[in-house]
Amino acid sequence: MSPERRSSFLAEHVDRLARVHLRDLLKDAARGKRLRHRSGPILLDLSRQKLDGVALDALGAHVEASGWQAARDAMFAGAPINTSEHRAVLHTALRASGSQLPSPAPRDALQEIEQTLQRIDALVHAIGLGDASDFGVAPGITDVVNIGIGGSDLGPRLAVRALAPYHVPGLRSHFLTNVDGQSAYELMHQLDPKRTLVVVVSKTFTTQETLLNGTVLRDWISRAYAGDANAVSRHFLAVSANVAAAEAWGVPAAQVYPMWDFVGGRFSLWSAVGLSLALAIGSYNFHALLKGAAHIDDHFRSAPWQENLPVLLSLVELWNRNGHGRGSRAVVPYADLLTDLTSYLQQLEMESLGKQVTPQGQPVAQSTSAVVWGSVGTNAQHAYFQALHQGTDVVPLEFIGVVKPAHDLQANHDALLSNLLAQAAALALGKTFDEALAEAKEGDDAARRVLAAQRTFPGDRPSTVILLDALTPESLGALIALYEHKVFMLGHLWGINAFDQWGVELGKSIARQILPALESDSGHAGSFDTATQALIEAIHERRK
Ligand code: F6P
Repeated sequence: MSPERRSSFLAEHVDRLARVHLRDLLKDAARGKRLRHRSGPILLDLSRQKLDGVALDALGAHVEASGWQAARDAMFAGAPINTSEHRAVLHTALRASGSQLPSPAPRDALQEIEQTLQRIDALVHAIGLGDASDFGVAPGITDVVNIGIGGSDLGPRLAVRALAPYHVPGLRSHFLTNVDGQSAYELMHQLDPKRTLVVVVSKTFTTQETLLNGTVLRDWISRAYAGDANAVSRHFLAVSANVAAAEAWGVPAAQVYPMWDFVGGRFSLWSAVGLSLALAIGSYNFHALLKGAAHIDDHFRSAPWQENLPVLLSLVELWNRNGHGRGSRAVVPYADLLTDLTSYLQQLEMESLGKQVTPQGQPVAQSTSAVVWGSVGTNAQHAYFQALHQGTDVVPLEFIGVVKPAHDLQANHDALLSNLLAQAAALALGKTFDEALAEAKEGDDAARRVLAAQRTFPGDRPSTVILLDALTPESLGALIALYEHKVFMLGHLWGINAFDQWGVELGKSIARQILPALESDSGHAGSFDTATQALIEAIHERRK
């Protein structure tokens, strides 16, 4: 990292702590207490971050001087903080019904949200009873296909899988996302069109992938009904902020559930975008998810920075990113049910925080979003953990564990959690050369020293542990809201707009220009750079 990208107020603390190993920091129990905090079902343990009390105080002074409370309150109240799109950012209003604190969001927004929640509840109830004809839905539905991408896919996908133990019997959920026809092809071979309900989710209702896949499934269902348009429409619901476009596409108005400009796609799980989730887990559990998120909203609005989980998480990210120049962070949930958490966080964090200019168009003063990556443990241990323990680059990790499993295979669960704890400990403590040498028994002294060098672990590698009491709708809601507010805080601290995503547009518009060249016979339907033109020609050449 170039020095100017390193935050100067952190440098003195980073330099001081470079001389102190985490092994020694961990001896201080009082320090540990300051770095471990609980809110509801979440325990956040930051004690394996390379921080001491003095550095934490410096971070605290920085956040306090930043005016974070006023910025936070402006978001909750519906100020147009997404300035490049002139929009409010009100995903918190979507779960205000579960809050203990009164919502400062505009009344009309709260009313629309409440009405939509009631519509969702009524639909879910009717489908559960097997007769949703009043909602325009065909009888005998056994499979629900959510078609959407990005925020219209990742949240419901994460939650539907995470909450598998809560699924209502008799209804299976599927997700169709990629424009790669393979996925649609496989799904159509697996499902019965007359028993399938398709939920087309697109905030804009202009997304190429979603509309193409929607058309593919519509044609498939249409074939089953010999083209009877009325029968086909009973297999479609839509969720969109562009109700007119959804209707024009062919979903009857009464079957379109609204989204709003004041909710960003990647923050929209709590809205009708969560419809397929609500169908999968039922209304009671969907409201429990909202309640869990609302608990963290209240915590974020009321706790001082020293105990405020999202604030602390954002400060640790700032510390690693701008103090130490760490370019990535690995997220490793020790829970198969949380398999989709990493991809969810990739969009939430990288689409929100991958910015290089301020809302005023000035270059940012420091590095912004780290690369987020990872996969479930313990599988990850047998893939890339070698590099995390002994590689040349230090990658901060985030371990997520669940105390009480949703099954009774306790021996498996104890093994799982012991691995999580062991990895965090091993990364922090390491193994010295002398310790490795004492263990090396084979060969002469020179051979033992060579072996010991390879069996040395530097340690001093930072990680965070997040423990959920259990993986329930409430704790999942709380966990996601924790990350949402962390993202808000980083946007605030880095001076960037975390709620727009202009960086996705250029590739989309070039794809629109390239498509006719692929569709044409010759491959000469446009003027492209030489590399693109050569590949278009290679594709044409080989598919003859
Ligand atoms: O291309 C990025 C993006 O705009 C995301 O921000 C969004 O979640 C996704 O595409 C899907 O958009 P839509 O819900 O409008 O189809």
